[in-house]
Amino acid sequence: MSLAAQKARAAQAALEFGESHMTTGLGSGSTADIFVRLLGAALENGALENVKGVPTSENTARVAREAGVPLIAVDQAARINVAIDGADEVDGRFRLIKGAGGCLLREKIIAHASDLMVVVVDETKLVETLGATDLPVEVDPFGFTITAGKIYEALTASGVTRPDVRLRSYGDGANPFITDGGHYILDCACQRLSDPEAVAARLTAIPGVVEHGLFLNTARAVIVGEEEDVCVLRL
Ligand code: A5P
Repeated sequence: MSLAAQKARAAQAALEFGESHMTTGLGSGSTADIFVRLLGAALENGALENVKGVPTSENTARVAREAGVPLIAVDQAARINVAIDGADEVDGRFRLIKGAGGCLLREKIIAHASDLMVVVVDETKLVETLGATDLPVEVDPFGFTITAGKIYEALTASGVTRPDVRLRSYGDGANPFITDGGHYILDCACQRLSDPEAVAARLTAIPGVVEHGLFLNTARAVIVGEEEDVCVLRL
């Protein structure tokens, strides 16, 4: 089965967490996009009604509009019942790396504001130890080279050997990637994060760091699309 099919399986199972009259945080990325389209279909065929979405990115807002999912502005949402979002890595304690799509700040705000965060992934995202994929860190453009140096120090102090901290850019590297919030992303190749909590605490303490892609103690359920099946894991 292709990864796309695994993602679709996970997204389909996530619909079970949706109920009529809920406000739903809509994550970003390819798996979350599938969920948004399925949610739109469920609203159209009457399986669900009066669901409102709070998107975590401009792209997700566009997908939701196309799919017919009514949106409300985040500041109009008195309560977010559930957030459904993808991840780049998930470990056995449901700790996540997110942000390959550059939406980590809004994703984290919505995940933390939700009563329940549900992660939808294909099985390649499950890891024993976080860190094989880059850890994205969203930073203010002002003084970003200074911030990058501080991030390097924070990572080495947390046990990462020679991390590679790079500005995310387009194509030939001439143009920095700009997040929906107007920030830069520094992608940190760490290979292995043996103490994600220490990394998170050190990164958070750096002026210029807006947010980092470690989601610790956030997800309460993980839906894994597999070859033949789908697996719903709960903490
Ligand atoms: C967006 O910034 C990310 O956090 C995504 O949620 C994550 O990269 C997963 O994306 P896919 O579902 O496309 O793998």
